[in-house]
Amino acid sequence: MDVTMNINGEEVTRDIEPRTLLVHYLRDNLGMTGTHWGCDTSNCGTCVVWVDGEPVKSCTTLAAMAGGHDVRTVEGMEVDGELDPVQEGFIQCHGLQCGFCTPGMMMTARALLDRNPDPSEAEIREAISGQICRCTGYATIVRSIRWAAQKEQATRVEVSAS
Ligand code: FES
Ligand code: FES
Repeated sequence: MDVTMNINGEEVTRDIEPRTLLVHYLRDNLGMTGTHWGCDTSNCGTCVVWVDGEPVKSCTTLAAMAGGHDVRTVEGMEVDGELDPVQEGFIQCHGLQCGFCTPGMMMTARALLDRNPDPSEAEIREAISGQICRCTGYATIVRSIRWAAQKEQATRVEVSAS
């Protein structure tokens, strides 16, 4: 079957088997390997992408279900060569070691900051509770997301003062 979706602002169509999962559509059919595939059992969260602005686990979403919808992946975070503050935060605060969990963590973090621009540590920990990191112990991930929140707040203050 042909499945068409808008990915990071671009319309794409591929002829796929109906059972194809969204994570495989992205990685195998489109070569977009930024979205990782870790467990296939909906536990690790490294496969998180957005469908119509909502984070979903792409390993338990059929590509056909995303047909006709807007999908955003980690490749779409950077805009015109500018890193998203969440990406910057992960660099500044060492929010990754092996990096396997990072794409899903960053997509979830971006969704959190879009609905709650000033999350507490507890709120960040709750937001990423569906995701597993085997390396960092989570402290630097939480710090990275707080860093991004503070940077965005500072930018808002600058814009409103100018
Ligand atoms: S690969 Fe999707 S939750 Fe682990
Ligand atoms: S940085 Fe290695 S799993 Fe998170």
